Amino acid sequence: MAGSNGLHTLGRRYAHITGWGKALPDRIVTNQELEQIVDTSDEWIRTRSGIHQRYIAVDPRENAVTLGTRAAMAALDVADFPVSKLDLLICSTSSPAHLFPSTGSLIQDALGATRAGAFDLSAACSGFVYAISLANAMIVSGQVESVLVIGTEVLSRLIDWSDRNTCVLFGDGAGAVLLQASPVPGGVLSTVLGSDGSGGDLLSVPAGGTSMPTTLETVAAGQHFIKMDGKAVFRFATRIMVEATREALDKASMSIADVNLVIPHQANERIIRSSMKQLDLPDDKVFINLYNYGNTSTASIPIALCEAIEQGRLHSNDNLIMVGFGAGLTWAATAIKWAVPGAREVPRWRVSQRQASYSLARVRSRLLRYSRQVENSLTSEEGDVLGEVLAQRIEGWRKTRDE
Ligand code: UT7
Repeated sequence: MAGSNGLHTLGRRYAHITGWGKALPDRIVTNQELEQIVDTSDEWIRTRSGIHQRYIAVDPRENAVTLGTRAAMAALDVADFPVSKLDLLICSTSSPAHLFPSTGSLIQDALGATRAGAFDLSAACSGFVYAISLANAMIVSGQVESVLVIGTEVLSRLIDWSDRNTCVLFGDGAGAVLLQASPVPGGVLSTVLGSDGSGGDLLSVPAGGTSMPTTLETVAAGQHFIKMDGKAVFRFATRIMVEATREALDKASMSIADVNLVIPHQANERIIRSSMKQLDLPDDKVFINLYNYGNTSTASIPIALCEAIEQGRLHSNDNLIMVGFGAGLTWAATAIKWAVPGAREVPRWRVSQRQASYSLARVRSRLLRYSRQVENSLTSEEGDVLGEVLAQRIEGWRKTRDE
């Protein structure tokens, strides 16, 4: 190990965050607007949760794929990374566009990340940090060079808008980071993952899975909406945020005094302040932005990370903690040495080039769908010939694009 004198550790690989981005739907819903639909008050919501407003995807065309894709594109722009080189895409979500195909696969297609494997990860609000842990392991073990980690949620579609216990808390949005392999020491230093399924019933969407398939009765009984025992989750959260942070620090051989910034899951200001107080972390070392977004579940940490960077709260060599908790019950924390230099100017033409490649990806996707339809309508022999011709055309096209 030679990190302290600036030399690279022989043969070791580190996973660094090199790009970040967020995406939000257009519509802001204020607490005052919620006062009009449920028995609540701006005062109650602010004092009990800290939330002032949230973004809601009212446009039916917006979903976990569209938001996640936008956040991913922003992250690739910051990293100035060609999507054609991406190795893996991990999409954390609890409000996927479909049970399957995975939201990750649909984002991979929208980006035209043709080399990348893609899948969804389900660990609720802890999912983003779970995905960082997985990305780190894949990079450090030498299996991949680059991983796009996306947290995307449209929880508003799973909310009972007449249930004041939940509808005032959640919001929609997406955040993404690109992790890349590097010989430079730093990046992800430690990760902690935890789960206690005995608390599964404390925060859940009971129906729509295989244990309670969708029926007229489940729909009528509102079993497809989020149900939460807020008090129990609150108690669990204030304990586990402290424990998970301490464990991540221990594993990274760091102490509280070494921490420059904590980005906690943005569920409730009281949970965050209580946990950070137990850790003896002063307010200026904790980033909170739930006032404007509500609880965006797995998207909350990457959205907050983007905003912390925008506000100049993260500097090169800072020690960053990201810590989350959520349904499952699950929890996760990571200690990161932020080794990315400040904002870099990406030439405009390269951003345009990337945008052109996304348009090409859309055409490619449509063409592939169409060719499958045509193939299905032909005899198997005719289909084989046509499939071969199309495959060659697309391959040629891809090569031209990547050159
Ligand atoms: O990502 C993880 C997701 N979940 C969480 O992080 C949730 C964690 N829990 C919490 O954030 C808090 O428990 C809540 C914000 C959900 C609730 O705060 P609380 O201080 O635990 O309130 P409470 O549940 O004890 O409710 C207090 C009162 C109750 O009335 P009574 O029984 O005292 O008459 C509730 O019915 O507040 C009432 N109440 C509301 N009043 C106005 C509950 N929701 C509302 C509301 N507006 N929206």
